[in-house]
Amino acid sequence: MTRVVCPGSFDPVTHGHLDVIGRTAEMFDEVVVAVGANASKNALFTPAERVVMLQEACAGWPGVSVSLFDGLLVDFCRDQGISVISKGVRPGDVDYELSMAQMNRRLNGVDTVFVPTDPQWSYVSSSLVREIARLGGDVSPFLTAGVAEWTRERVR
Ligand code: PNS
Repeated sequence: MTRVVCPGSFDPVTHGHLDVIGRTAEMFDEVVVAVGANASKNALFTPAERVVMLQEACAGWPGVSVSLFDGLLVDFCRDQGISVISKGVRPGDVDYELSMAQMNRRLNGVDTVFVPTDPQWSYVSSSLVREIARLGGDVSPFLTAGVAEWTRERVR
């Protein structure tokens, strides 16, 4: 039984994230989606709100649970008995994601698998979605209906 973590900020969760989580769930027995609790000045949602949004968005996947984590991801993995990190990668992410993966493996031996983002979502990022929402644009193509509604409410 392999437990894998899909870590991220998810501020907010996008279709690109959900595609990676769903494909990870097809490959591993149990997926823990882990929301980093580190504060960001530019955040739209609190980490606890992101957990609720992800729980709603992932409700149809029985092997997927959602947690909050603080501190180092590798410490969360050790505490939760997780041996693999799954990360979605878009074209521009590779260098940074590779160095994080190598560092995490160096820190405690947890390895990372990279899931290439579906091309239809490869230009989508939470930071662009936040900017579009704050400037009054339509974010509905990139988010579930529930998350889009939360996002519209938040910037209203
Ligand atoms: O959505 P993101 O920005 O790709 O998420 C990044 C996240 C939260 C996965 C990453 O910043 C992280 O793992 N933070 C926890 C702190 C940590 O372990 N840092 C060392 C990485 S080598």
